[in-house]
Order: sequence, then structure tokens, then C-alpha cells
Amino acid sequence: MKIAVVGTGYVGLVSGACFAEMGVDVTCVDIDNEKIEGLKNGVIPIYEPGLKNIVLRNYEADRLHFTTDLPSVLNSMEIVFIAVGTPSDEQGNADLSYVFEVARTIGDHIDTPLLIVTKSTVPVGTSFRIREKVKERMRLRGAEDLDFDVASNPEFLKEGAAVEDFMSPDRVVVGVETERARNLMTRLYRPFLLNNFRVIFMDILSSEMTKYASNAMLATRISFMNDIANLCERLGADVNMVRRGMGSDSRIGKYFLYPGCGYGGSCFPKDIRAIIQAGEEAGYEMGVLKAVEEVNNRQKGILFDKFSRYFQGDIKGKTVGVWGLSFKPETDDMRDAPSLTLIRSLLKAGVNVRAYDPAAMKEARKYLQEDIYYATDIYDAANEADALIVPTEWKEFRLPNWNILKKIMRSHLVVDGRNIYNREDLASYGFDHQGIGQKD
Ligand code: UDX
Repeated sequence: MKIAVVGTGYVGLVSGACFAEMGVDVTCVDIDNEKIEGLKNGVIPIYEPGLKNIVLRNYEADRLHFTTDLPSVLNSMEIVFIAVGTPSDEQGNADLSYVFEVARTIGDHIDTPLLIVTKSTVPVGTSFRIREKVKERMRLRGAEDLDFDVASNPEFLKEGAAVEDFMSPDRVVVGVETERARNLMTRLYRPFLLNNFRVIFMDILSSEMTKYASNAMLATRISFMNDIANLCERLGADVNMVRRGMGSDSRIGKYFLYPGCGYGGSCFPKDIRAIIQAGEEAGYEMGVLKAVEEVNNRQKGILFDKFSRYFQGDIKGKTVGVWGLSFKPETDDMRDAPSLTLIRSLLKAGVNVRAYDPAAMKEARKYLQEDIYYATDIYDAANEADALIVPTEWKEFRLPNWNILKKIMRSHLVVDGRNIYNREDLASYGFDHQGIGQKD
């Protein structure tokens, strides 16, 4: 089977490499020549555990190819996946210009009955709009009689576990209209069936909606727990206990109930904005999701507030070590990261920032052009600091040498944005600990 995947971002590159790993002949396409040349030379543009090996292995086995020239490969494919970016525009709408550009290129060159599958997260109805764009261009060159299908196959992978998620997903959702499309997608996913998961076929609009609804539900759980955590703090309860108590009800489940300093990343913030906007356009107010977004924006300010309150507002000229910059561990992705809100507030208040992240230092410089010190390790970040603030729960932060930190820091506050430390433990080393959802 031969497929093309257009877009070599997270979704595109992981999907392309993993399909190749399952024996499919995959061509990854991108308009960015530097990226494509890099990939041919083994340079992986994103940090994602396990990805490099799979890309190298399949490239060497000649099952994975890279090109910038979609037209030249298009007609030898059975399926073309569209996996290009859909960033938010200023109103919160998903910007579909890259998606439609691919559709136009397909329309200009298609002369075999392809299946065009949308993998990017797109507003409900986009697959049909893609079909219209393709047809429009086919009409221009008098090729409108050619038959082709569209389908939707949203991707649910998590950054940091993308390869694993792709290889053994909980489910695969596929939206199709024709038997022919259904058969092709069944053939493509058959090798994965050995891993015992389900392919759920449905109509195209429902498939597109499933992606948004899933992300919206997960984001809702987080904002809900952050609200509960904030109330726990005020009432003297401990949210860690409450979370365990709640999560053991099988209707609720234990996953995705961790309070923290807010969700970030490439999906949740963008998708929540897009679905609120879609509601507005359809004349319906997404009341719950508006609150989810508002709670999350407020939650991102919580680390700064705790730090400032501890010093009774007297923070100008103080120094803070920030451990963790990426929006979550095991990635260098800085998009909508809570650390950005924190660091910008610190700088505005005249606080010196010494930041460290195991993977995102390079990426962080693109977002934080302001004057912060990029430290070489966790101890360098803590040097002469008045407080440590931890927005991201990287494993290497879990068991630091508190005795060294005690010596090198000026005062001894730890603001723990992900509840990775134990208050009594830290107290025994002479540190004050402030977590989320526990009484200060
Ligand atoms: C998410 C979805 O999980 C995935 O299915 C979808 O395809 C894309 O969006 P991702 O953004 O990679 O994946 O990260 P995820 O691990 O889901 O975390 C998202 C954010 O929520 C992070 O900022 C994380 O710190 C936060 N989070 C997660 C919490 O605050 N509490 C939790 O319990 C779980």
C-alpha cells in the first residue's frame, strides 16, 4: 500500500513514520525544504521519544520517503493524508489556509481515484469543504468526472508519548461516506489490529466532532479539578486525597484529574477556542467550555500569586529559579505553556529569572526574548534564588539534592505547580512548600 502524508509536524511525521513501521510505503511531504532535507539526513525537527529510531530505520529500509513535491508523487498513491497545521487566528477560529492550499494542489494534479483523509484537527464540516476545493480546481482543467473520496481520521496522540499512542491507540475513529473509502481504511489499519484496538467507523461530521469533543472533555476535567483544588486550599482539604477518592469511582476514572498550573500545548487551548467559536457561529453558546477556558487562564497565574503572597508583595529585585519551561514533560513544545505566563509576570514585577528545562531551552528563547538567565542545570537555576517555582513535572526534578539547594539558595520557598513534592519531606530539609490544592 502506498500513501502520502502532507505536513511533517507532530501529527504528520509521527503518523507517516508509524505507518511505515507497519510496512506501508509512505511519502512525507512538506513545503519546508530545509525540514525535508534535514529529515533525509536524519535531523528530526521535534523532540519525541522513539521517533528518531523509527524515522531512521524506515528511511533506510526505503519505506519512508521525504519530498517537497506533492504533485510528482500524488498519482501513485492510494491515500493522501492531510496533516498540516491549523493554528488559531485572532478570533479563535482554526486557520485552514494550509489545509485548503493542499486541497488546491491535489485538485490541480489528481488523475487517479484517491482517498483524501483529513488528519489535522479541523472544524466540523472541513472534509466536505476540502472536497469542494478539490472539485473546484478539477473543474478548471475539465477533469471533474474523476471520482475520489474524502474521509476524516482524527489523531488523538499525546506529545511525549506520540509513537506509543499511535502504535497502540485506545481507538481509531474514521469518518467515511463510501464503501470504497471504508475498505481502504480497513486495509490500512489492519496491521494495527493485532494490538487489539477498535476502529470505529462513523459519518464524517461525527468523526470531526469526536476529536473536538474528546479534547474539550479532557480540558474540562482539568479545569474542573483546578477549581476544586482552589476551593480545597481555602477550606483546608487536600485535593490529592479528594482526587483519589473521586477517581476510584469507575464512572469518573482516575486519569486526567491532576490539578496544576493550567493546561497548555498545541491542542487544548486552540481546540477549546475553536469549538466556542463554532458554537457562536451556529448560534449556540458553549457555556461549559467558556468557563473551562476562563478557569484555565486564571490558573496560569496561580504560581506567581503564591510566590508574591508568600513575600507579601515585596518581590522586586528577588530571584526565582524556574524548573521546567515546556507545557508538559518529555517535549520541547512551548505553545501556551504556563511557564510563559509565570515568567512574564515575574519580569513585569522586577524579579530576576533563572530558568532551566531539560529539552525546551532552545525553543523557549523564541518565546522569551526578554532578559532571563538560561541555566545549565537545576542547581545553576537555583543559585542564590529566593524561591524555586516548578511549572513542569520533568522526572529529573523529582529527587534533587535538597541539602545542596538549601546551601545555594537565599531563601527557601518551593512553589510546586504539579504537586510533585511532599510538604513534610521538604520541611525536614528546611523548605516551605506550596502546592496546588493543599492548605498553604
Ligand atoms: C492532548 C490530548 O491528550 C490528545 O489526545 C490530543 O490529540 C492533543 O491534546 P497533549 O496536548 O500532547 O495531548 O498533552 P496532554 O498530555 O493531554 O496534556 C495537556 C495539558 O494538560 C498539559 O499542559 C498537562 O500538563 C495538562 N494536564 C494533563 C493537567 O493539568 N492535568 C492532568 O490531569 C492532565
